[in-house]
This record gives sequence, structure tokens and C-alpha cells, in this order.
Amino acid sequence: MRYADLNTPLRTIMTPGPVEVDPRVLRAMATPIVGQFDPAFTHIMNEVMDMLRQVFQTKNQWAFPIDGTSRSGNEAILCSIIEPGDKVLIPIYGRFGHLLTEICRRYGADVYTIECAWGEVFDPDVIITEMKRIKPKIVAIVHGETSTGCLQPLKEIGHACRESDILFVVDAVASIGGVDVKVDEWCIDGLVGGTQKCLSVPSGSAPITYNNRIEQVLKRRKKVEQGIETDEDRRLGRSGPIIASNYFDLSMLQDYWGPRRLNHHTEATSMLYALREGLRIVLEEGLEQRFLRHALHEKALIAGIEAMGLKLFGNKEHKLTPVTCIIIPDGIDGESVRSMLLNEFSIEIASSFGPLHGKIWRIGTMGYSCRKENILIVLSALEAVLIRHGCSVNRGEALQAAMDAYEESLLTAKTATE
Ligand SMILES: Cc1ncc(COP(=O)(O)O)c(C=O)c1O
Repeated sequence: MRYADLNTPLRTIMTPGPVEVDPRVLRAMATPIVGQFDPAFTHIMNEVMDMLRQVFQTKNQWAFPIDGTSRSGNEAILCSIIEPGDKVLIPIYGRFGHLLTEICRRYGADVYTIECAWGEVFDPDVIITEMKRIKPKIVAIVHGETSTGCLQPLKEIGHACRESDILFVVDAVASIGGVDVKVDEWCIDGLVGGTQKCLSVPSGSAPITYNNRIEQVLKRRKKVEQGIETDEDRRLGRSGPIIASNYFDLSMLQDYWGPRRLNHHTEATSMLYALREGLRIVLEEGLEQRFLRHALHEKALIAGIEAMGLKLFGNKEHKLTPVTCIIIPDGIDGESVRSMLLNEFSIEIASSFGPLHGKIWRIGTMGYSCRKENILIVLSALEAVLIRHGCSVNRGEALQAAMDAYEESLLTAKTATE
């Protein structure tokens, strides 16, 4: 046999995605395929929509996954509401703000950007002032900026958008399932989550939700695919410009996920099984409990990193809980450290992009990867590898500090229940 059996190494994955997949999700993926219109499958589709509403904390009717990686969710919402020439305001504070900009430009939007330093977030008033000046149709922003480990507060921006009748679109790919995301309370009109991060499901599906403000735009642009449209569809016609993408046309996807069950793409059956199991795990754990777990392991990790003598990157007040960025000490080759972690310890951590490449490491503590043993292993391995690279660290301090953090949290929890 020319090709051997698949035999991938077992890694401890501490990047900001993709992360270790919960074994329950892997098992669900081995479930036999059923046809996409089999009632057994449409029942699963409805269950996934219901679970997504809970995770997104929304009463929106529409909550379903796009088949594609996370950016497909961004692209689906944006291309379905952008009409050529529409003004879109995008505040950028890292790589993924640039991604939103690129997507909007490709769909013919008139894009306005504001930027702040990577490692910082925007004062909401700065964005609101700009909104009032530009009067865009859409404000699109990243909630958790994976490239810098920062979390942008959204509530004030969302309320200001609603008051000015602006559509508010949010990329919550890195934050969903790890920190609080309140779609309805924060007046978010369209939101995209990621599977391969805090949900611990493989990459390849992008859960989205949107409300009736977005649905109003879709109604004007609604199209039923040539070849399956009825006389009635033809009679109704369309008053707005057609959505530029067939694959991402939410007006068509809605007909597939809604009661009409109109054929569109062939559903990625096994990915939907995976998403269903991932969401079931989140809801079993409970949102509050899950956010507390992410915060606990972040605390222990930071305690260890700082005790080692390393410095964190970014504004601590606006840190994204599941992504911890560390400044690479002077004279240390960041890529060499990452390679040694992978080759000697089978641990993967990440570097970053653009201006931060070679300047910081990023450690993800997301979903199933966010476990005590992973925190302790990554700290001990990082210390060993840094010593190997001639870096002066406070030897033996990191693990003790992390273990103290865990013990303290146990004590606090015990006192609280007494
Ligand atoms: C915040 C954010 N948005 C969008 C993306 C793009 O996701 P994908 O690579 O799955 O298309 C990522 C990927 O890491 C991300 O972190």
C-alpha cells in the first residue's frame, strides 16, 4: 500500500484555533449520514437552530450555520445586506477587522475605516462620533480580536446603532462560547460565531444569527434559484438588487432552513452533527459556568506567565479571556521556541500576524483545550524551552503560581458555599 493509514500525532493544542475537539464531538461525526430532507435530519436542523438561539442569547427566528469556515459567516451576512455603494463603517483594531474591510470592499461597499493601535480597543464614543459623521448603513466590527487578544465592548455601540437605524454586524468568532455575547441585549442585528475555537468543534461551519431588521433587507432582494422557482416566485419578483453570491445568499438559505425547506446546497451532514454535539456540551455545562471556567484557567495561565518573568501584550482591561498574548523576550527567536514546544512536547502555541509577527506568542485557552492539565503542561514546557534558548526566567515559579491560583479559586468557591 502506497499510503499509510492516517496516524496524526496527538497534540496539546493551545492556539487560538483550531483547538482540541471534544471527543464527544468526534464520536458524533461518525454518526451515519441521512438525507438532508429526511425528517430525522430536519429535526436535527431545528434542534441546532434552537440551541444556537440559546448560545447567542437571542429570540431571533434565524440562527443557523453557514457551511464554510468562520469567514463564510461574515461573508454571508455582509454580502446579503450590502448593496453596491452602501456606506459601511469598520473600526479596525487587528487582523480580523481588516478581513471585514476586505469582504465589504469586494461586495462593492463604500468602506470607511478607523484604526486604533493593535493591543488596544476603541472607546465606544470614538466609534459613535464617527457613525454620526459618516451615517453608514452598516457598522461591522470584531468582538474578540484573535490577533491581539483584545475584547471590544459592544453594548453602547449597539444601542447607538439602533437609535440611528444603522445595521450592527459583529464577528464573534473567537468569543462565542468563551465569554458573554448578548445578541439581543446589545442590539446586534447580525452576528457570526466560530466553531473551531471556544465551541471545540472542527473548522468548517459558521453559525450565524440575524434579526428582522436584516430580514427586511433580504425581503427586497429575495431570489429563488433559477431551476427551482415557481410561477408564484416569478410573479413576486424583487425590488432590490440581487445578492451577489449564490452560496451566501441568506434569502435562499433562509428558505432552506425555514418551513419551506427549499433546496439550496447539499448540507454538510457530519459537520451539523458535530455542531449539534458541541452546542449540547455548551448548554449542558451552562453559559455562566463555561465563562467562569474560561476565566479561571486564564487567571492561572497569567499567574504562571507573569511569575516566570514574562510580560503580557495588550490592554489588560480589555483582554479577551481565551487568548493570552505574551511579548517575546528580546533576543529570543519566537519561531524556534514554538518549534521546540511542538517537537519536544507536542504542544502547539501560536504566533501572530502583520505588525505583531515575531513580537508576540498567543496562547489559546478555548473550549475543550481549556483544562487545568493543559495550562500546567504548557507553562512547564514553555519554561523548559525558554531556558534551553538561554532566556533568563524565574525558574520553578510559574507552576507554583498557577497551582496557587487554582487552590485560591477552590478556597473562594468553598467559602462561598459555606
Ligand atoms: C475573529 C476572527 N474572525 C474571522 C476569522 C476567520 O475564520 P476562518 O479562518 O475560520 O475563516 C478568524 C480566524 O481565526 C477569527 O479569529
